[in-house]
Amino acid sequence: MDTRPLIAVIVGSTREGRVGDAIARWFVDRAKQRADLDIELIDLAEFDFPARYPEEATPQMTTFTAAVGRADGYVVVTPEYNHSFPASLKQAIDYAYDEWNAKPVGFVSYGCGGRGRYAVDALRVVFAELHTMAVRDEVGIDLMAVDGAGTPRDEDVLELSVMTMLDQLTWWARALREARAARPYLA
Ligand SMILES: Cc1cc2nc3c(=O)[nH]c(=O)nc-3n(C[C@H](O)[C@H](O)[C@H](O)COP(=O)(O)O)c2cc1C
Repeated sequence: MDTRPLIAVIVGSTREGRVGDAIARWFVDRAKQRADLDIELIDLAEFDFPARYPEEATPQMTTFTAAVGRADGYVVVTPEYNHSFPASLKQAIDYAYDEWNAKPVGFVSYGCGGRGRYAVDALRVVFAELHTMAVRDEVGIDLMAVDGAGTPRDEDVLELSVMTMLDQLTWWARALREARAARPYLA
């Protein structure tokens, strides 16, 4: 059966007054135009994670890891904080391990003046450790180049980069789902 891969879009910023939710909505609106994938939004601001990594997973942690586990691939929406990605995102990523394995991940990043380049570079290192396949092309948004209505000035270029990244992600999501079904991944 060749069902559409389920792509989890993870909203990494939980900051009060964040723009991350608006960026994620902009991305999801475009991703939903495609007939070859399904989208599930995972907004980290909706989770109540513990302040300290507990001995046993809390129900909120289990809910998050189950969502990671059922997805066939991921798009991480991340701001750049001090040339890396936010702590809220690292906290959540570290709750899962096997659930990430042998699945593809793509990135939508943003920053002020930059496009979140350093955040994505840092995430690529983390996701390599989690045995994911990070796709080559990315979507990078400069918040300084957004008009009064919240629309990026280079929207045409960005929309093309969304589709290019999703083409790669969808190909890998299908290929790796078939591979995992044929043979368990040995992490
Ligand atoms: C703690 C902090 C550090 C930041 N560091 C950077 C940075 O290194 N590079 C950059 O382009 N923008 C930086 N910014 C600007 C953020 O990219 C911008 O505030 C963005 O709106 C943050 O995403 P959020 O609103 O979804 O949390 C920083 C913002 C914060 C709060």
